[in-house]
Amino acid sequence: MKKIIIINGPNLNLLGKREPEIYGSESFDTYFKTLQGDFPLLELDYFQSNIEGELIDKLQEVGFSYDGIVLNAAAYTHTSVGIGDAVKGISTPVIEVHISNTYSREDFRHQSFISPNAKGLILGFGLKSYYLALQSFI
Ligand code: DQA
Repeated sequence: MKKIIIINGPNLNLLGKREPEIYGSESFDTYFKTLQGDFPLLELDYFQSNIEGELIDKLQEVGFSYDGIVLNAAAYTHTSVGIGDAVKGISTPVIEVHISNTYSREDFRHQSFISPNAKGLILGFGLKSYYLALQSFI
């Protein structure tokens, strides 16, 4: 069974409550259960942190043993050289995801420190972006 982890960055613990017109009204905990049902052949883990260093620690911890990482680094996508370097430094493939289409939003969201080192990028499909990313590991 392939071992895949979804890693969510800052403020994504507020999914369901935060700007529902952009991010929807479902919490990630609920959606994660749906994903587990959708992908019985994947062993799925989930980690969320609002702290940049904790996200880097988790990438390093799983990045040489897991089969895949689905990463929504949220706001750190646009600012964090450290998370970009971590993605570059590990051997597990990383799929970058975003709930919203960051290219249709403010200019500062058009920059990503993750994309150059990600295996692929999926954005703009709401929570379904995570589903589509997981599908790539099947
Ligand atoms: C996001 C887009 C980012 O620009 C934003 O800071 C987020 C969420 C998304 O999933 O659409 O927190 O990564």
